[in-house]
Amino acid sequence: MGTTNSPGDVKDITLASEGVRRINWAEREMPVLRQIKERFIKEKPFKGLRIAGCLHVTSETANLAITLRDGGADVFLCASNPLSTQDDVAAALVSEYGIPTYAIKGENTDTYYQHIISVLNTKPHMTMDDGADLVATLHGDRTDLMENIIGGMEETTTGVIRLKSLADEGNLKYPVIAVNDADTKHFFDNRYGTGQSTLDGITRATNVLWAGKTVVVIGYGWCGRGVAMRARGMGGNTVVCEVNSIRALEAAMDGHQVMKMEEAAKIGDIFITVTGGMKAIDRKHVANMKDGVLLANSGHFNVEIDIEGMDEISDSKSEVKPFVEQYILINGNRINLLAEGRLINLAAAEGHPSAVMDMSFADQSLSAEFVAKEYKNLENQVYVVPREIDDEVGRLKLLSMGIAIDELTAEQEKYLNSWNVGT
Ligand code: ADE
Repeated sequence: MGTTNSPGDVKDITLASEGVRRINWAEREMPVLRQIKERFIKEKPFKGLRIAGCLHVTSETANLAITLRDGGADVFLCASNPLSTQDDVAAALVSEYGIPTYAIKGENTDTYYQHIISVLNTKPHMTMDDGADLVATLHGDRTDLMENIIGGMEETTTGVIRLKSLADEGNLKYPVIAVNDADTKHFFDNRYGTGQSTLDGITRATNVLWAGKTVVVIGYGWCGRGVAMRARGMGGNTVVCEVNSIRALEAAMDGHQVMKMEEAAKIGDIFITVTGGMKAIDRKHVANMKDGVLLANSGHFNVEIDIEGMDEISDSKSEVKPFVEQYILINGNRINLLAEGRLINLAAAEGHPSAVMDMSFADQSLSAEFVAKEYKNLENQVYVVPREIDDEVGRLKLLSMGIAIDELTAEQEKYLNSWNVGT
């Protein structure tokens, strides 16, 4: 390491030394990624390849980028959300780690897309997305930048949904691995990561006391399950709203109250959207809410709360605290929207803890290696992470936590593989 001053666009390069400390702190909790990095240093699986990452630029992502770089890749990074960048980390990547990074916390939509183009202008061989904006740009008006691509990876549920829709239309132009769908990713990152970091973001932005509050969680996928579980753990009375009957049933049997959003709107104190869809909270809901409620989103895009609709039923709005915009409705009630309806955990806190990103980014690294080796045998489809990678990440994480587990005896194994042994 040393001062490299790579190209990039960051807020303030003098923040680099703080960024280095933060990256090192995160690394302590990323033992699986560290082991992969040590192997990559020897084997250089990405020699000669350019990897473009559109990811939340955090200390954990920095460790992923360093792992890929040490594996021989030229890595280029931009943000996957205008509010999720850690400016000190971005500065460190550019000045200390030789990783060109285009990301500024609070950048406007134009800059956000310019940064994506800066990264794609390198004509990468692989894309690594969190939300599919690189893929969408390459398949939209910048197909000219696609010539070198051999494959990609996608980190999140929303991105996988977009990719599958592109693939279903028959228009996906290169193979992409749905890293989100690995068991070692969504069971842990989406549930425990989003669960903890969402409450962390809301707490840091507002200092709210959760105990005794009615917390309405909208969406009961892996993220919603985690958020509702942790909200209850803090003493909240949890209400879940769902459109899927099996998930709603699961929420009810997990012990949450389940009801229509129309009803939940009247009784909630804190509302958290994690649906992956749009307008989960619309203006009709907001109009029926109590005075002083908090609204936060932890889904990928800022479309889950109908902000335009809120504007239309409000007399005024003002920032009452960083990350808290207070709307005064025409009916006089105050509604507090957190972080402009963007991912609260990354905007107001630090995103998921490193220990859980360790597994997600181990999956990313090994999936990238898989694409580098196997791309000639892959079709233009969305692929699951190979079972061996998923199992290996789980095994290494367990080992790193000092947990040993039993193995089946030969007799047990034989029993499990037979059909003819009954009572
Ligand atoms: N997504 C959620 N939390 C994250 C983190 N800490 N780093 C990168 N991506 C994330």
